[in-house]
Amino acid sequence: MSNPSILILPGDGIGPEVMDQVIRVIDWYGAKRDLAFDVSTDLVGGAAYDAHGVPLHDDTMARAQEVDAVLLGAVGGPAYDDLDFSVKPERGLLRLRKEMDLFSNLRPAQCFDALADFSSLKKDIVAGLDIMIVRELTSGVYFGEPRGIFEEGNERVGINTQRYTESEIERAARSAFELAMRRNKKVCSMEKANVMESGILWREVVTRVGADYPEVELSHMYADNGAMQLVRAPKQFDVIVTDNLFGDILSDCAAMLTGSLGMLPSASLGAPMANGRPKAMYEPVHGSAPDIAGQGKANPIACMLSFAMALRYSFDQGDEAARLETAIEKVLADGARTADLMGPEGGTPLSTSEMGDAILAALDASV
Ligand code: IPM
Ligand code: MG
Repeated sequence: MSNPSILILPGDGIGPEVMDQVIRVIDWYGAKRDLAFDVSTDLVGGAAYDAHGVPLHDDTMARAQEVDAVLLGAVGGPAYDDLDFSVKPERGLLRLRKEMDLFSNLRPAQCFDALADFSSLKKDIVAGLDIMIVRELTSGVYFGEPRGIFEEGNERVGINTQRYTESEIERAARSAFELAMRRNKKVCSMEKANVMESGILWREVVTRVGADYPEVELSHMYADNGAMQLVRAPKQFDVIVTDNLFGDILSDCAAMLTGSLGMLPSASLGAPMANGRPKAMYEPVHGSAPDIAGQGKANPIACMLSFAMALRYSFDQGDEAARLETAIEKVLADGARTADLMGPEGGTPLSTSEMGDAILAALDASV
């Protein structure tokens, strides 16, 4: 049997440098855990635009559809700010999500003990935090038609359309309930049913799906209240399920609870493929951070934790995922810090590759 395949798309900015450290980890699993992957690499975002004039080449798109998992770094940068909307780096990412039909975006917000002081919230509010946001990723206002900037009388009007079918809501909700069954059995659904019809339908469908999961405690919140509750008392949540737009915003908010965006992974999952694995793409929540790109300062942990999610959700290797997560927790507890994790007490931060060295050493020590 051939090895499972991974397509690596490092992208722009700090994407390539953090991905280099992940590739070391992938190689480690091949060498030390008899868990080899067939890894190929390609371009996305601004890097693809520079080479091909488009943020995602059709061949790359086709390859992404064939592999067992895609691992993406980050896209975008100031060099591409003035490009036409249709070829902006972000369009490459959105095309991957849409054409792979990755409807369920899992964004964990977990607070590492060693970093609880970094949160902008008080330590006792975030210590031990472990929540999962499930963001619907392929529909809603980011994709709905009609959209565009149109002439209307003597001025222009910008239009986007929030649109959800019952089946789109249902599959996102189902993935949230399935996850909750493996966690603390609580789902909170967030929408704006008080002002949006799509929110009324969202609430109705989530409630209907919830009936199939009697063990899961389901609650509903308006998304604005949800944002408030996230910063007031985030530990009340286990799984939050919400639409594409609210999920985009609420997940950034939840991310910051944990202290650093440089720590947070994500998984975007679709329907099962013929081999039973879900279509899947894994990416850190942070962006391309052009201000520090190429300087070896970036924190590779979010990207590594994204690979841990791949081990868990694509390759059924939950124990090996936990091994990597534990190794990361250990180096943080031992005081290893990249520049984004430096506290007021100062010290010399580790470079991207030095953080990689520390994590590989902890992995070595784990076997
Ligand atoms: C995210 C990002 C993307 C989004 C951008 C880069 C298109 O903000 O993954 O949250 O809006 O979905
Ligand atoms: Mg976002």
